[in-house]
Amino acid sequence: MSHTDDHEGTRRDFLYYATAGAGVVATGAAVWPLINQMNPSADVKALSSIRVDISGMAEGSQLTVQWLGKPVFIRYRTQDEIDAANAEDPSTLPDPEARNENIEAGSPATDQNRTLDEDEKWLVMMGVCTHLGCVPLGDGAGDYGGWYCPCHGSHYDTAGRIRRGPAPENLPVPVAAFVDESTIQLG
Ligand code: FES
Repeated sequence: MSHTDDHEGTRRDFLYYATAGAGVVATGAAVWPLINQMNPSADVKALSSIRVDISGMAEGSQLTVQWLGKPVFIRYRTQDEIDAANAEDPSTLPDPEARNENIEAGSPATDQNRTLDEDEKWLVMMGVCTHLGCVPLGDGAGDYGGWYCPCHGSHYDTAGRIRRGPAPENLPVPVAAFVDESTIQLG
């Protein structure tokens, strides 16, 4: 009831939670217009983070969450998917760059440079085709066992790297990190 309590309540509201069970967090799209109207970048940063509970996910499964109005793919990869990704020499791929906001720009597109954890189990990417922005199909879709964009036929591999089709770049990896073993924070 105190003023302080109200203030803390408001601050807590800045952080949105998504759960594996719910599948999709609906706040992302609604929050974006509000963020757009606010100038200070610190406020934008605070508002633009969400935490995703991944504790319910099984190996070989994938979760899509809405973040800032866009889909984000979170995949808990199998060893086969990891091995397939590591079998490729990144310098020979259509886009040899990692496209990972968490590491230095221009880093090679190795599987390790694309994934969130040391074991390369967790892949987090924007679910937006780098050709014209369609949402690719997942769960082993396409000729490379990763994602497939049916709009114009772009095939992405198990690390989300473009392998064939008109898309010019790998699916981008946004700012993301584990905050504990069952929670990934985006932004
Ligand atoms: S938008 Fe994905 S292939 Fe064109």
